[in-house]
Amino acid sequence: DWTSANFVSEQVQRIREQVGDRKVLCALSGGVDSAVAAALVQRAIGSQLTCVFVDHGLLRKGEAEQVREDFVASTGVDLVVADEQERFLSALAGVTEPEAKRKIIGREFIRSFEAVARSVTGAKGVDFLVQGTLYPDVVESGGGDGAANIKSHHNVGGLPDDLSFTLIEPLRTLFKDEVRAAGLELGLPDEIVWRQPFPGPGLAIRIIGEVTADRLDLLREADAIARAELTAAGLDRNVWQMPVVLLADVNSVGVQGDGRTYGHPIVLRPVASEDAMTADWSRLPYDVLERISTRITNQCRQINRVVLDVTSKPPATIEWE
Ligand code: XMP
Repeated sequence: DWTSANFVSEQVQRIREQVGDRKVLCALSGGVDSAVAAALVQRAIGSQLTCVFVDHGLLRKGEAEQVREDFVASTGVDLVVADEQERFLSALAGVTEPEAKRKIIGREFIRSFEAVARSVTGAKGVDFLVQGTLYPDVVESGGGDGAANIKSHHNVGGLPDDLSFTLIEPLRTLFKDEVRAAGLELGLPDEIVWRQPFPGPGLAIRIIGEVTADRLDLLREADAIARAELTAAGLDRNVWQMPVVLLADVNSVGVQGDGRTYGHPIVLRPVASEDAMTADWSRLPYDVLERISTRITNQCRQINRVVLDVTSKPPATIEWE
């Protein structure tokens, strides 16, 4: 039978055998998967591991700080931060197609990461790269048995051919609940273990249209309000995740204050799910939805409409892109 304790001890053993005395890098994304993968490898080989956080500027409010401060405090991991916000913004300029966004982000991510790898390890380079790929990521990227390629997840597909390290993916057989159990087993704090799943390409695939700095700021603000209200209502664990999506290329007419507006809609996409492969839309209480809507339209000047996505997966996916 699967237990988190057995899983951790088996993986620790395996990683030690595979790695020997060589060097390992791990990319932290801000999410639970890479945090658990890193903590697992840290448990196995300690100071042979260096974690790298490529700050692509596509995270939600407060998440970069959580990686830089809280994760380091709870694991004692060696962390190098690369501030690459400009690089990602310029690479994404003018791009609207979701798969193109994912491929660009995957490519830039690996390039930034390789640059850091060289600076951390010198000319010799690094031997292994840890990634927090889960079983559903493998399946949905067409890596599973006969599964269709639905979305190319940047942590599986889109890697360049000249990739110069061997991947270690210790969570490849796990579902999210098992990852959380492993995280608790490894002593990670609740805020990290219970964080909502968040896609590697981040807010870039929650802006329908071109990704710009202003649009990112706008979405970050709206998303922070929605999350804060969900938490205040005690509903964090009732939803699997709640993407907040900015329809940046859509305008509608509204009336705010004393005048006509022509602003953007924000979509709330709360879903219930076991493993993200299927999902049902969450029936959030109306008063919570109302507070989210009122606060977002009051505090985000360019948002004049908040809409609720009431579609299950299938036929829709969880993210809008
Ligand atoms: P979809 O939208 O396909 O999402 O129903 C299923 C789960 O995967 C997450 N997701 C991604 N995660 N890179 C990731 O690391 C991606 O490109 C990506 N696209 C979607 C999504 O948030 C959901 O949890």
